[in-house]
Amino acid sequence: MSNAPVYEIDLPAFRADPYPDLKRMRAQAPIAHVPQLGATLITRRNDIFTHEKNIAVFSSDQPAGLMTVLMGQNLMRKDGAAHMAERRAIFPTVSPKTVRDVWKAQFQSAMAAILDRVAPQRHADLVADIARPASGEALRALTGLTNMTWAEMDRVSQGMIDGCANYTGDPAVTARCHDCTASIDAHITARLPELAATPDLSLLSVMMQAGLPEPAIRANVKLAISGGQNEPRDAIAGAAWALLTHPDQLALVQGGTATWSRVFEEYARWISPIGMSPRRVARRYETGGITFQPEDRVFLMFGSGNRDETVFARPDAFDITQDCGPAISFGAGPHFCAGAWAARCLIAEVALPMLFDRLPGLRLAGDAPFEGWAFRGPLRVPVAW
Ligand code: HEM
Repeated sequence: MSNAPVYEIDLPAFRADPYPDLKRMRAQAPIAHVPQLGATLITRRNDIFTHEKNIAVFSSDQPAGLMTVLMGQNLMRKDGAAHMAERRAIFPTVSPKTVRDVWKAQFQSAMAAILDRVAPQRHADLVADIARPASGEALRALTGLTNMTWAEMDRVSQGMIDGCANYTGDPAVTARCHDCTASIDAHITARLPELAATPDLSLLSVMMQAGLPEPAIRANVKLAISGGQNEPRDAIAGAAWALLTHPDQLALVQGGTATWSRVFEEYARWISPIGMSPRRVARRYETGGITFQPEDRVFLMFGSGNRDETVFARPDAFDITQDCGPAISFGAGPHFCAGAWAARCLIAEVALPMLFDRLPGLRLAGDAPFEGWAFRGPLRVPVAW
């Protein structure tokens, strides 16, 4: 175990709102061991930015980690050349050009259909009725699992996320996770011959075309589903809520003096959809008087780095006029989010502008409770128009 100062948290309170504890950690113990999480947390932006690149020490290869055990070893759990080879293989799916030329039109038509369906109701839950299907439809296209409904996509994504966070080993959660990975495997098996006959730019197809071994293909599709559903969902509903609770900021966008892109980037800084990424310490390492030991579990706390008061002018405010360039919402090293271009397009170019355009007079119609520290987003956002 590292000799970092110990910082105790109350886990339910941390889940409800991690930001007060993270602020204290940044000030008092920026690298701290948190017994309740069984991990050493790195909380300052510049420390995360530096250490994440040191893959010889802070390794992504975590054979005993729940993600690898439950979903197979995906590219996010590999280092160096093995990681880069698979990143290269999936690039044709997630490149800015493919996003612009192929996926954007599909995101737009899916979002239009969702809004056509809800518009006559004049009220909705932004999370369940709009952001969740928008995210699920985008992932059906990106992954190539067009034989899966968006609702099943959402279910299997959540089931895997719960499985990967099941540190207490609840057997019901593990069983549900197995059921979700089995569903994905069945959908992949059904699509393999179709995509062999008619290749396209989906994730499944480009990995087949690159000749990746089938276990790696299956593990990476599961990674995209576990990592590509809830973040766009939380960012679409969360950023819309942020604008509705900050009418001055909404006026800047609607008046044309700020862009939707700024809204998304600032929201993802302020309330990071992915608050942390885990690493395994591969060898003994000393930094700033702290010694890490092999096999220590380290959490890179992106959500905390994004509130670092030494880096951002107004860290705790949602302010689309401030410089959020140094934000690390998509990571800060070789594992920088592979879906970043797709996510930016879906959220900032399609979902948010269409939402405010197609539902005139959009307003909040109730409380929007938020939850989570590893993944954070609103549980519901009731709206009317
Ligand atoms: C708001 C939306 C999103 C956010 C904030 C986000 C954030 C992140 C973060 C923080 C990481 C880990 C980076 C690191 O450890 O350095 C990551 C990795 C990843 N994300 Fe995303 N993500 C989003 C959407 C997506 C989408 C839509 C997809 C799927 C198409 C996706 C696919 C991936 C993949 C494959 C990785 C692993 C990359 C690697 O290990 O090389 N993400 N993402």
